[in-house]
Amino acid sequence: MFEPNKKVQSVDESPIRRLFAKGGPNTVDLSIGQTDYGPPEFVHKAIDKAHYRYGPTEGLKKLREEIALRYGDLYGLKINSDNVLITGSGTEALFSIASSFFGGKVLIPNPGFVMYPSQIRLVGSEVVWLPHRKENNFKIDVDELVKICEKENPSYMILNFPSNPTGSIQNRKSLQEIADFCQKKGIGIISDEVYDLFTYDDRDHACMSQLTENALVVNSLSKSIGLCGSRLGFVIGKEEVIKNVKKAHQPIMACAPIKPQYGVIAALENWDETKKFLKGKRELYQKRRDFMVKILNMIGLKCHKPEGAFYTFPDIGKFGMSSSEFSKLILEKADVKVVDGGGFGSLGEGHVRISYATSEENIKEGLERIKKVIETI
Ligand SMILES: Cc1ncc(COP(=O)(O)O)c(C=O)c1O
Repeated sequence: MFEPNKKVQSVDESPIRRLFAKGGPNTVDLSIGQTDYGPPEFVHKAIDKAHYRYGPTEGLKKLREEIALRYGDLYGLKINSDNVLITGSGTEALFSIASSFFGGKVLIPNPGFVMYPSQIRLVGSEVVWLPHRKENNFKIDVDELVKICEKENPSYMILNFPSNPTGSIQNRKSLQEIADFCQKKGIGIISDEVYDLFTYDDRDHACMSQLTENALVVNSLSKSIGLCGSRLGFVIGKEEVIKNVKKAHQPIMACAPIKPQYGVIAALENWDETKKFLKGKRELYQKRRDFMVKILNMIGLKCHKPEGAFYTFPDIGKFGMSSSEFSKLILEKADVKVVDGGGFGSLGEGHVRISYATSEENIKEGLERIKKVIETI
């Protein structure tokens, strides 16, 4: 009775979720993938005022219209509410897509977001890893991608830029090459763009729907507007494809949480104000990134400068231990939480993910404590 099936047995626990419950009142948490701010006050008010009843399966029409408009403003897309599906989170959006379409092989980033392999295995599909090598600043080598696709013949590919865990961004030109290749080969692209608004040094974000019709774009309101725990995401794509994602979304979720939908409508209706809010956060996070990267390199944790998202991914190879041993040691001895890079795939081994979505004081305190521990290794 209640023997877990083979699919569930194939799921590894997320190293981030494993850390979630650990630590005490003095722990410095540099593991967390969530913004340290909440939504603007007027969004709070709209959430408070909203009702508690169920909403439509596809999400509130007004919200879908507003998202379509925002994508017009940000990326020049000419889409409407039928091209948008509101989901219970970015994670649920990805799982609804996996449930709707996956079957054969799916190419995913290595290192990459921890939910991808679990979701692919849960729907009975096979994972194929696409290297994002540190020698290449954690970007895709398009020739290597082509070779892997010729050999493995995947039906779908998940791309994620800016990347969790490395913060790297693939440039527009090579993304266009990838999009054209996938079009030719009939490989569907799922582009996870939950960090699209966290790009630094005025870097361009290429939305995959600007480059090809053959893509589903996943986004989340968890990160940008600061609604992590309220859980809200969305998918953008061609109307007939969105209809099929909705077929899986309904038995998984029925409908997305209603209150945050009203909050996001308020945020997007006041787009100029929200853009100002987001610009301020992006500037703050860029400053924190620079601060963290400088200290990491100073204390001997070699670290490239991430171009987006809110994570650094320093190299801990010289300490002669696995990244899981290193992060355990740092938690035990420094009382600081950092995430084991090996949990993001084999090419994450030898690294840890350290988040700067926290105050400068926390960053400083956490890194000082880490410095003291690594001096003893
Ligand atoms: C790359 C990536 N995709 C998707 C998600 C899921 O976002 P959500 O919080 O909306 O489930 C995350 C969250 O950390 C992420 O890092």
